[in-house]
Amino acid sequence: MSAAGNVNSITPPDFQAQKGKTPLVCLTAYTTPMARLVDPHCDLVLVGDSVGMVLHGLPSTIGVTLDMMIMHGQAVRRGTERALMVVDMPFGSYEEGPQQALRNAARLMAETGCAAVKLEGGETMAETIAFLSRRGIPVMAHVGLTPQAVNTFGGYKVQGRGGDGDRIRQDAVAVSEAGAFSVVLEKVPEPLARTITEEIAIPTIGIGASPACDGQILVVDDALGMFTDFRPKFVKAYAELGRDAEAAIAAYAGDVRQNRFPAAEHVFGDIAQSISRGNAA
Ligand code: KIV
Repeated sequence: MSAAGNVNSITPPDFQAQKGKTPLVCLTAYTTPMARLVDPHCDLVLVGDSVGMVLHGLPSTIGVTLDMMIMHGQAVRRGTERALMVVDMPFGSYEEGPQQALRNAARLMAETGCAAVKLEGGETMAETIAFLSRRGIPVMAHVGLTPQAVNTFGGYKVQGRGGDGDRIRQDAVAVSEAGAFSVVLEKVPEPLARTITEEIAIPTIGIGASPACDGQILVVDDALGMFTDFRPKFVKAYAELGRDAEAAIAAYAGDVRQNRFPAAEHVFGDIAQSISRGNAA
């Protein structure tokens, strides 16, 4: 399926032009119904490779494939009209070099209709970001904690503390100078996020990176409180859908076992026989 040619009302240049103005609002989405809920409220919807953990039960983003990103990208495309739609390039789909990145980014754009791609990495990815940007592929960069490198970091740790801050700052400057239209800053301390946001020309979008950023992003399932067992410090749950869903499922199970569901209003035809069976039980 080709989805190319869709242009949403918010474009990468529009997004970039919002730097330093009203904070930019971003959320992930992986399905059509969720994209429909997110789209009217957000400036950017990200089909994040977090889909691997959130929807597929993977232990990290490392097992996510290009085909998975394309399938979820197509689903989100069907629910997105207004927000800028960005799709993550999964682990292994861009690191070989600019040519590989171009081939796979072009596939993502042509097959999902997204307006931009996101890839992880700073200075080491600058050449690739420049190559893509000059060939009509807007790139959102991602520095600080880059989850695809979790094995190198030895866990999902805050990055850029103390002397390590300069490495992240240089990464942010490099991706900005390479032509990225925006950069995600993940899990970095406030003073560093502030310094970077003041120094670079493109919007910084924080996740665990303080209000000093030009905008914020969360995994939508985190924002909706889908997970009861895992809630990182930087997440604010605006609902408790996980708890509510569990209670609803338990109520359904109880109703079926106690013959309270289906009731008369859910039945086609004569319910008398079913009720008498229920009463006999
Ligand atoms: O994969 C993802 O969802 C992300 C964001 C949360 C920044 O990269």
